[in-house]
Amino acid sequence: MATGGAGYIGSLATSAGAAHILCTGGAGYIGSHTCVKLVEAGFKVSIMDNLLNSNKRVMERLKELTGKDIPLFEVDMCVADDVNKLFAEQKFDGVIHFAGLKAVGESVAKPIWYYENNITGTINILKAMASSGTNCIVFSSSATVYKPCEDPLDEEKPTGCSNPYGWTKYMIEQILIDAQKADASLGVSILRYFNPVGAHSSGRIGEAPSGYPNNLMPFIQQVAVGRREALSVFGTDYSTKDGSGVRDYIHVEDLAEGHVAALKRILELKTGTIIHNLGSGNGVSVLEMVKAFEESSGKPIPIKLADRRPGDLAVVVANAGKANKELNWETKRSLKDMTDSVWKWVSSHPFGYDDPPPEESLRKESGFSQTLRRGSVEVGFSQTLRKESGFS
Ligand code: NAD
Ligand code: UFG
Repeated sequence: MATGGAGYIGSLATSAGAAHILCTGGAGYIGSHTCVKLVEAGFKVSIMDNLLNSNKRVMERLKELTGKDIPLFEVDMCVADDVNKLFAEQKFDGVIHFAGLKAVGESVAKPIWYYENNITGTINILKAMASSGTNCIVFSSSATVYKPCEDPLDEEKPTGCSNPYGWTKYMIEQILIDAQKADASLGVSILRYFNPVGAHSSGRIGEAPSGYPNNLMPFIQQVAVGRREALSVFGTDYSTKDGSGVRDYIHVEDLAEGHVAALKRILELKTGTIIHNLGSGNGVSVLEMVKAFEESSGKPIPIKLADRRPGDLAVVVANAGKANKELNWETKRSLKDMTDSVWKWVSSHPFGYDDPPPEESLRKESGFSQTLRRGSVEVGFSQTLRKESGFS
């Protein structure tokens, strides 16, 4: 594992000091964890975010964790003038481009919004980079760009998407590849994430989804703290180890270190496009994740057996060999590290960075009849559903 060493930055330092990296979407889940690792690795960091899906309070936590005042520029990447102004006023040596809308279902309902936000925003950033002489970009892509395939996915596997969110990632990858072909001074790193989960080991930053949680871990964490009654397990008849879906979960701190490694590599190469999967290569089933979370939290997670979710595959796992070799990076945190860190975060922040809402809205949110104690995670559950399901 070769991330985080500050020594290397010496060779990347500019005349003004440490390389200055702009994290678009840096106030969000993955961006905030990456900002911590970037500062630890010796980079100077700024954030550009319109806070559409994040909370300004994360900035206090970043200061607490890094000891640095990371500037937050509240800019919408779709407003070209504002993006240009920011790039003209600041000197950025590189961009890590996290900003984007990311909910698959929402993208099906609101495709134009997704295409406009994610693609127009990226084009604005690329234009501002070109006019201000910023020559390096690392992009948050996704395993969703691969055509359905249940074998371990290496970077050569065929690409193709099934929803507008995925197509935005696919199209942005192509835009970046073409922009780099036309401008040899540009360096592009595309990172295809598998399933990011977990929180910072301090429990001070973590995933705080707004609205209904669509992904597995945010749903489990809301069940654990009493905000949802039970987890629906989407499909228990897959030909997997226990019938439930298998995914490649990656601890967000490993993912964040993967960004530092990719950034260093592309700053060093100075040109070209590099594409890497960031995953662990290990498959974990839904039921294994539930069990691991129960062990970390000491809380039962009631489950309901549900039909398969349309579009889901039985297994999605990375072959991360290319990143291991070329970025000298690999995951080092276990499933237990993932669930322990989520529990540390969510047990102290059951509503993420927000204050708890009034009790009445809590009851409505969870559908519970019992009174939930505000700000408390000590909410008991019946084991009935779990017993009915036949899982122990
Ligand atoms: P997130 O929603 O927590 O963070 C994204 C950030 O982008 C938010 O803070 C949001 O306010 C900001 N943003 C959105 N539109 C913006 C705009 N127009 N201008 C400025 N800021 C804007 O999401 P995340 O989970 O941290 O994901 C980060 C990136 O990684 C996204 O591009 C996402 O598509 C990608 N990704 C995430 C996952 C995952 O499972 N979390 C998997 C694969 C890829
Ligand atoms: N699942 C449940 N119940 C839930 C939610 C999920 O059983 O309430 C199951 C799913 O069926 C799947 C597994 O948990 O088997 C993981 O589902 P997620 O929704 O957490 O993640 P996906 O693998 O479906 O997709 C996520 C992102 C995509 C991204 C992909 C790879 O949503 O955008 O990871 O990065 F492309």
